[in-house]
Amino acid sequence: MLILGLNMFHADASAAIVLDGEVKFAIAEERLNRHKHFGGFPALAIQACLDAVGAKISDVEHVAVGQDRDANLAKKVQYALANPAKILNFIRLRQRKEAMRDVRSLIAEALHVDSGSLQFREHHLEHHIAHIASAYYCSPWEKAAGFSYDGSGDFVSTMTARCEGNDIQALDRVFLPHSLGSFYTMICEFIGYTKYGDEGKVMGLAPYGEPTYCGEIDNIVSPRRDGFQLDLSYFKPLGSNQGMQVLSDGTVRLARHFSGRMEKLFGQPRKPHSEITKRDMDLAYAMQHRFEQIVFHLLNRLYAHVPVDHLAIAGGCALNSVANGKLFDMTPFRRTYIQPAAGDEGLAIGAALHTYHSVLKQTRRHELNNAYLGPEFSDSRIQRALESAGLEYRPMERSALLVTVAEQIAAGNVVGWFQGRMEWGPRALGNRSIVAHPGLPNMKDILNARIKHREWFRPFAPSIMAEYQNEYFEHDHPSPFMLHVYKIRPEKRQALCAVNHVDDTGRLQTVTREENPLYYDLISAFHRKTGIPVILNTSFNENEPIVCTPEEAIDCFQRTRMDVLAIGPFVAQKQPLAPEKMPEFKSERV
Ligand SMILES: [Fe+2]
Repeated sequence: MLILGLNMFHADASAAIVLDGEVKFAIAEERLNRHKHFGGFPALAIQACLDAVGAKISDVEHVAVGQDRDANLAKKVQYALANPAKILNFIRLRQRKEAMRDVRSLIAEALHVDSGSLQFREHHLEHHIAHIASAYYCSPWEKAAGFSYDGSGDFVSTMTARCEGNDIQALDRVFLPHSLGSFYTMICEFIGYTKYGDEGKVMGLAPYGEPTYCGEIDNIVSPRRDGFQLDLSYFKPLGSNQGMQVLSDGTVRLARHFSGRMEKLFGQPRKPHSEITKRDMDLAYAMQHRFEQIVFHLLNRLYAHVPVDHLAIAGGCALNSVANGKLFDMTPFRRTYIQPAAGDEGLAIGAALHTYHSVLKQTRRHELNNAYLGPEFSDSRIQRALESAGLEYRPMERSALLVTVAEQIAAGNVVGWFQGRMEWGPRALGNRSIVAHPGLPNMKDILNARIKHREWFRPFAPSIMAEYQNEYFEHDHPSPFMLHVYKIRPEKRQALCAVNHVDDTGRLQTVTREENPLYYDLISAFHRKTGIPVILNTSFNENEPIVCTPEEAIDCFQRTRMDVLAIGPFVAQKQPLAPEKMPEFKSERV
């Protein structure tokens, strides 16, 4: 049974294909059309899904969309009536969503087929149920508490659920305008991070701050017995677009969230790209602190209703890896499953799997234990790309490749590592990664100056051989998709200084040989050379979506000051090495 799942006309549009209950391929449209966070129709992603399983669209029996415009309709109407100025906007949005409902015509047009030839049944699923489905049905569990939270989706910002067997039963919803995602976005905007998806950056700024403004920020969002509520006087009314607009070219634009009350309290908002002041850091600190307090309140409340060890989390706020890392200390939950695409691209697999399990009552479950659901490219295609770029390269056997790359990393060089199937979700997890030495004090600056051009305060992440996690980090719950932040043990902070954040934490990826044999063996080769079972891993890109094809990887390699490119079985290297690349690190074994 072939099911196509879609997230469309929403940020991070995507498609996924599920064959007999197993996710075979999934990809965000941005990776194919190179338009970051693209929010239009995922035409290229649909075609890529079909190609991956060798199917035609006429073979697809069900199409599932992770959005239902009729969900929570009464609440939407009630909100529109209470905000008469927004009614026209509300009607426009309904019309747009009406057009969006004609999935059959949209697919026929995108794939150049006759809509009469399409046999599939269509399913529309409420946004947050699709989120929870994307986590629960991919987990290994038969029973779990479900939790989804984000800015908004289908007029809801937060949902709790009981997940058991084939079913997901929604327990509670928090309706707009009350939204933890909006709370976070509002303060990010105030301190100059105004783009969709900037929240993750500000999370990295928070530990530089102090609790100066915790009192003031705590007033903006308050826990309640039935959830939480915002003090709306700090916000501009979001209107019926729920604070986010998708332009006709697929660009996702955020509306201004903060009101004049924020300016009265804290002064002028910071202009994007201007200097970050102590005020901005302290606001980031207070925001993250309050966010965590409310999340743990919600999760403890959820546990009271669903007292099980297992928690399936999703939604854009589930990318808050700092909160994810602390929840084992702050709630009774013992295990989390967070799918690699916890944000909105994940709706595509959630909608498809929900259709399979809950609508069609199919019981066969497939745990999603790796994120490698994207395209891969043959050695001959890679070789052609290298040839046409005019790069010198050497083909290598597997073991020679691993030793060579490990030596390059150990020598302080920055390596583009392009292997196998592209990752699903926003994190590079060892197939489209830039890898480097985690223990060189200047490596963060080198990466930022030469390739990534990121804000100075953003940390780089460590990939660690899973069996060494406990030796290096203070928590042993696995983090296979780089979605948990843990404290680094004091005695290991020096060895991991390039990935040790200002609060002595790291957003780690635990790597097992089962999940990714080649990447695991690379870290292992580096470990043999240096005594460190960790490498620094950042996404293979430069101010663009993560590279997908060999051509994009080669282009990124050529236009940045990366030293080495290991692409499939081929290694290309730039010469000569600049003096700044000389290692300052002394091996633990010395
Ligand atoms: Fe969402």
